[in-house]
Amino acid sequence: MTPVLEVTDLVKHFRVRSGLGDSTAVVRAVDGVSLRIDRGEVLGLVGESGSGKSTVAKCIMRLIEPTSGTVRLNGTDITGLSRRQFRALRREVHMVFQDPYSSLNPRMTCGQIAEEPLRHHRIGRRVARSERVGDLFEKVGLNPQMRARYPHELSGGQRQRVGLARALAVEPSLLIADEPISALDVSVQASIVNLLLELQQDMGFSCLFVAHDLAAVEFVSDRIAVMYLGKIVETTDRQRLFAEPRMPYTQALLSAVPVPDPVEQRQRERILLPGEMPSPINPPSGCSFRTRCPIAEPQCAEAEPLLAEVDGDAHLAACHLIGPAGEAPKIRSTVERAPPP
Ligand SMILES: Nc1ncnc2c1ncn2[C@@H]1O[C@H](COP(=O)(O)OP(=O)(O)OP(=O)(O)O)[C@@H](O)[C@H]1O
Ligand SMILES: [Mg+2]
Repeated sequence: MTPVLEVTDLVKHFRVRSGLGDSTAVVRAVDGVSLRIDRGEVLGLVGESGSGKSTVAKCIMRLIEPTSGTVRLNGTDITGLSRRQFRALRREVHMVFQDPYSSLNPRMTCGQIAEEPLRHHRIGRRVARSERVGDLFEKVGLNPQMRARYPHELSGGQRQRVGLARALAVEPSLLIADEPISALDVSVQASIVNLLLELQQDMGFSCLFVAHDLAAVEFVSDRIAVMYLGKIVETTDRQRLFAEPRMPYTQALLSAVPVPDPVEQRQRERILLPGEMPSPINPPSGCSFRTRCPIAEPQCAEAEPLLAEVDGDAHLAACHLIGPAGEAPKIRSTVERAPPP
């Protein structure tokens, strides 16, 4: 079956001014990312700040043009299309943004905001559109009377529900949610994640769910891809990633996720990575994670590890040192214990 989204070797390099004068440098924001999302599937995309997640999302939405690579939406390569040709496909993919405060037009009522995609794609007449918006509001858990309100008259969580109503108005086959909860109060984060999952199961759209919050990613995703410095370094299904992370980077990320059981939480070791992610202007040679990796060896500086099968084709990781499945990850013997909080 044709995947809803198929990204192949996506590269996005930004040219930026470096220091004084006219000298420029290249930011390798995304450096060869491939991923696919099947119908009705949720792919979680995780990684530290600056790893390139939003840049991938923006290339898929064509908010920015990729440097190279292809993005196929339901089989059509959208990277080669003109703006006009893309407009016809624009219906297939919609996005919910991180900041519900700046992503809704303050001069439009919430009803107008949710109706806008329907008008843009000339779907239905005025009365039918208005009914549809009422239904959408109910679907996202808002009182339809709120259609008359302006975004500033709503709470952050309510605004994000309006953002969801807008994104789902034309029933896209793919929803891109870039950090949809990170700007929200902790108390409403869970309700928005629950809502997203309910809507996804009800409407059956595929979703690229970008988030820092690994607990939320674990909750909604079928599969997860981990990014580091513009590359995907590990990808597998949710259960396997959380049960058996193989890349030392993934292990470190997951070790920071709190578990609900206090006894287990106390016994867990937190893997502390030294330093910060290197600059994507000047990434390390070979394996880009080697400068912080607790098990790096000299060979890691020489060649770049490619994403390869570590447990059949369902589990891929990019590391020179990972052995066959079942072998204990070498990282466990060398971790530093985090000081108790
Ligand atoms: N328009 C731009 N011009 C130059 N550099 C950019 C631009 N957009 C992003 N970058 C750089 O590309 C890299 C990846 O940025 P991106 O926003 O994709 O990261 P991210 O993984 O979404 O981070 P976060 O979790 O903080 O949202 C960063 O180093 C960033 O500074
Ligand atoms: Mg981002």
